[in-house]
Amino acid sequence: MNEMIEKIISRHAIRKFQDRQIEEEVLEQILQAGLYAPSAGNNQRGTIVVCQNKEINLELGKLNHCVMFKGRSRKAVSNTVSADQPSILDDPAITDAFYGAPTVLTIFTRPGVYSHDDAAMIAENMWLAAHFLGVGACYIGRAEETFSSEYGQKIQKEWGVPEGLVPVCHVLLGYREGPEPHAKSRKDGRIIRV
Ligand SMILES: Cc1cc2nc3c(=O)[nH]c(=O)nc-3n(C[C@H](O)[C@H](O)[C@H](O)COP(=O)(O)O)c2cc1C
Repeated sequence: MNEMIEKIISRHAIRKFQDRQIEEEVLEQILQAGLYAPSAGNNQRGTIVVCQNKEINLELGKLNHCVMFKGRSRKAVSNTVSADQPSILDDPAITDAFYGAPTVLTIFTRPGVYSHDDAAMIAENMWLAAHFLGVGACYIGRAEETFSSEYGQKIQKEWGVPEGLVPVCHVLLGYREGPEPHAKSRKDGRIIRV
C-alpha cells in the first residue's frame, strides 16, 4: 500500500495528552496544512485561532462538555467511542471536553453555503498533518454553542476574531500519553460499487 495512505489509515483520535507543549515549528507546519485545505470556490474564509492558555482552554472545554449533555440524559448519549482514548461519552469522570490538550485550535468561518464543509476540510488537513509529525490530535464539535455562552463571547472578543465569523469546530493538539491506540475496524458495506 502507498506509504501516505498507510499513514492516513493509522491516524487515531487522541484524547490523553502529555503536559509538554508542541514545538513552534511543528505547530507552524500543522497550521500551514490547514491553510492549504480546499475551500468552496477558493473562498479561503476559514480562520484558525490558536490558544495555548491553560485556563481558557479548560474553561472552554468545560463549557463544551456542558453543551454535549445539556438537556440529554447521559444514558441516552452514552456509547463506546474508545477504550484506549476514552471520550466524554465513555467516561463520566472527564469534564473537560478538550481533555487537557496543551494546544486548542478553533476554526471560524463566515456563515454561508459550505462554511461547515470548509471548516471540516481545514480540520482534517491539520489532524492528518499532526499525525504525520507524531502529534496527537482530535476533532471536537459544538464550537458555536460553546462560544455562544457569555464566557465564550468575551473570549472571542478578547481574541480579536473579526466580526461575523462563527466558530465551527476545534482541533486539539498535543503529544499522546500512553501507547498507540488499537486500530478500530471499519463497518462493512460502506462502499457501493455500481
Ligand atoms: C464531526 C466530528 C465530530 C467529533 N466530535 C468529537 C467530540 O466532540 N469529542 C471527541 O472526543 N471526539 C470527537 N470526534 C472524534 C471521533 O470520536 C473519532 O473520530 C471516532 O471515534 C473514530 O475514531 P478514530 O478517529 O480514532 O478513527 C469527532 C469526529 C468528527 C468527525
